[in-house]
Amino acid sequence: METQAKEKAYSKLGFDKEEATQIVDALNTLLCNYSVVYQKIRNFHWNVVGGDFFDVHEKLEAEYLHAAETIDSVAERIRILGFKPMSTLAAYLEHADIQESEGDLSSNEMIKAVIADYELLLSFMVDVADLAIDFGDIGTETLMRHLIVRTEKRHWMFSAFAKK
Ligand SMILES: [Fe+2]
Repeated sequence: METQAKEKAYSKLGFDKEEATQIVDALNTLLCNYSVVYQKIRNFHWNVVGGDFFDVHEKLEAEYLHAAETIDSVAERIRILGFKPMSTLAAYLEHADIQESEGDLSSNEMIKAVIADYELLLSFMVDVADLAIDFGDIGTETLMRHLIVRTEKRHWMFSAFAKK
């Protein structure tokens, strides 16, 4: 029964199981990397010190709230396609390319780490979008277009702040 439900989920969308599996693999890569970034930004939010504390502390809270929303939309897209998202911290740490942050960083180093992570997340979003376009998965493509535009804007704002 479960297999039938899965078949239905993507057959009505116009691509086959092999194509859906490739898209889901790319979505899971984005999901597990973004989940590491989410915790990393909370770490920075809690531990930032210095003269720009109020700016950085507050901005990072907005970032991890945004990250939580984005992660949710990626995981739910995987469910919509009829698969299960990676859902444990152990799986995220095992599969993510992005590393957790170690030690105390200056606020500027934290901002630079976020910028670098957003660049990697953008590359994973583009990977998902490329597959979605190839296979005609308009829903995933549309989601990635939104996420790419929003992440590019955040990347620009952090880059501008880092030049203070
Ligand atoms: Fe807080």
